[in-house]
Amino acid sequence: MLKTRFTEMFGVAAPITCGGMTRVGKAELIGAVANAGALGFITAHSAGKPEELAKELKRCRDITDKPFGVNLTILPAIKPPPYAEYRQAIIESGVKIVETAGNKPQEHVTEFRKHGIKVVHKCTSVRHALSAERMGVDAISIDGFECAGHPGEDDTPGLILIPTAADKVKIPMIASGGFGDGRGLVAALALGAEGINMGTRFMATRESPIHQLIKERIVANDERETELIFRTMRNTSRVAKNAVSTKVVAMEKEGAKFEDIRELVAGARGKMVYATGDADEGIWSAGQVQGLIHDIPTCAELVSRIVRDAEAIIRERLERMMSGGQRQAAE
Ligand SMILES: Cc1cc2nc3c(=O)[nH]c(=O)nc-3n(C[C@H](O)[C@H](O)[C@H](O)COP(=O)(O)O)c2cc1C
Repeated sequence: MLKTRFTEMFGVAAPITCGGMTRVGKAELIGAVANAGALGFITAHSAGKPEELAKELKRCRDITDKPFGVNLTILPAIKPPPYAEYRQAIIESGVKIVETAGNKPQEHVTEFRKHGIKVVHKCTSVRHALSAERMGVDAISIDGFECAGHPGEDDTPGLILIPTAADKVKIPMIASGGFGDGRGLVAALALGAEGINMGTRFMATRESPIHQLIKERIVANDERETELIFRTMRNTSRVAKNAVSTKVVAMEKEGAKFEDIRELVAGARGKMVYATGDADEGIWSAGQVQGLIHDIPTCAELVSRIVRDAEAIIRERLERMMSGGQRQAAE
């Protein structure tokens, strides 16, 4: 078994998390992730109103008695979601782990920690990781440029971001963005992380609550099938490449403002993608790791395969290199 500071701190068997995913991080997926020995996060704002979140957490508790958490994504909005009420629902639910993402989490971090809740803050730069560490979070999840969703504006890929962060961050750190198999897990551990966070890979699992055709689209897509929208607004988002994303990127190049693309990027259209299986209906997030996704396993199969493959790489491939066994075999 792979034991890291992350597995010890959060009491899970595998050094793997399933990050918050709008419209995907629901009870059936996160419960299955927990039963597989990894740590998943129910996405607070996807549940709807705070009282709906409480019901979703109860639904997940009915699926698993293992640890799971909640993702609280704090994004600038004209009409912000009721963050304080979500926070209260989380505290009252008895969930003991939260993943925060986005801007200025201090107020939430302080409240959660006061109630004995551990906080993993997800960010996309070393400076934000250090600032979250100073705020008192328990662990960092750091997203490289490869990731689905918001990679930030620095464009630093994981191969640079993870070790530069590991040099400076003292609390346990999970590497995120572009991970999907045992090779990625070993690489993350070698770069100084204590585990991996995956989004896109968990979308294409049996328990993921999205249309089968979208899971199959992820399997069919290669690593080039993503696009960066909202670049011109400095709010970059990596999404699956489709008719809508290509149109949005073209309109942005022509100087379109948010108002001009609002209808194309509407959440209601993205929701239809998962409901109908029509991948061109709206915008949906997916990362470059699509190029490494070739099947739709159960969460249990996926997690155990990643851990098993990582252990085999460390024990066999890397160990053989250390002992010079490969040279001997070739001679
Ligand atoms: C469909 C989808 C929706 C996402 N929604 C959110 C979200 O609401 N909040 C958040 O913090 N991260 C969100 N993410 C990012 C993931 O939590 C994770 O950081 C990212 O997927 C990691 O990159 P990967 O997809 O290459 O594994 C989303 C990712 C996907 C694929």
